Amino acid sequence: MVATAAFNLRSEILRLKKERNAVILAHNYQVKEIQEIADYVGDSLGLAYKAKDTDADVIAFCGVHFMAETAKIVNPEKTVVIPDMNAGCSLEQSCPGPQLDAFLKANASKNYYVIAYINCSAAVKALCDCICTSGNAVKIVEAAPKDRPILFVPDQNLGSWVIEQTGRKMDLWKGACYVHVEFTRDSIQAIKEKHPGAEVVAHPECTYAVRMLADEVCSTEKMIGYCRNSKAKDFIIVTESGMLNRLEREVPEKNFIAGPTGHCLCADCRYMKLNTLAKLHDALLNLEPRVEVPEETRKRALKPMLRMLELSK
Ligand code: 13P
Ligand code: SF4
Repeated sequence: MVATAAFNLRSEILRLKKERNAVILAHNYQVKEIQEIADYVGDSLGLAYKAKDTDADVIAFCGVHFMAETAKIVNPEKTVVIPDMNAGCSLEQSCPGPQLDAFLKANASKNYYVIAYINCSAAVKALCDCICTSGNAVKIVEAAPKDRPILFVPDQNLGSWVIEQTGRKMDLWKGACYVHVEFTRDSIQAIKEKHPGAEVVAHPECTYAVRMLADEVCSTEKMIGYCRNSKAKDFIIVTESGMLNRLEREVPEKNFIAGPTGHCLCADCRYMKLNTLAKLHDALLNLEPRVEVPEETRKRALKPMLRMLELSK
């Protein structure tokens, strides 16, 4: 009975997708059923490219709000819907636009070159010189003007990882992802001891103490290639739990172990997990909730987005 209902939901979503000429884009942290029905599953960078290049009329964005907002920034003619409007992000919340604006005004004499991690609002993007994702942050920082100090917002952990990789000094905004900071040195050390042959693959939003235990630190997309090409058979994946769905589907010959946090056996982002198949269905049916960006903000946010897309080709 339940299986039939789920099947009907899936076929109804596919029917609506066709009727609306919609494309379903999903982040790697989405639940399995959403990843399975999506036209494209990827990291923030891949999703930004797909959103820009699509010729669909509707983008059903299964991820968090800043990702859907990014789709609207790069492709304003499209209707962008998100299954749950409350799918926020702790990093976005840690750097409100007015606060960054006030900081930049108070420090105008520094003439900062501002690089914003894509996990921020359109209002913050509009105040920046260039955007980056975890997949291209090193490249973007290396391409920054050498004669200006860099302010990196909002993730201090990604920022400090980029400093380690590039040797470039940057001032860091003190934001963090509430999910990734829950992994601890002790929780990762303990799981490593249980699986001595396993490699540790961690997202750069993790703290320095956790990154130090990793064999590889990379974006969610790069995790796929790393695990596929590594000689190891077992991997401890230190990021949000949804990533395991994609790894298990695309690299079936390897074994993936969820990195435990200090509190539980794996890590769920409560925002990513707000999206469900039923809400995706309703979003396609009603074309609501829609993601909109005020045109003035959108135009200003587009410039650093396009700079990023150009630089990371
Ligand atoms: P990726 O771009 O690596 O997928 O990261 C997005 C994110 O929200 C990580 O928490
Ligand atoms: Fe934001 Fe962290 Fe969730 Fe990624 S995992 S969407 S950074 S709260």
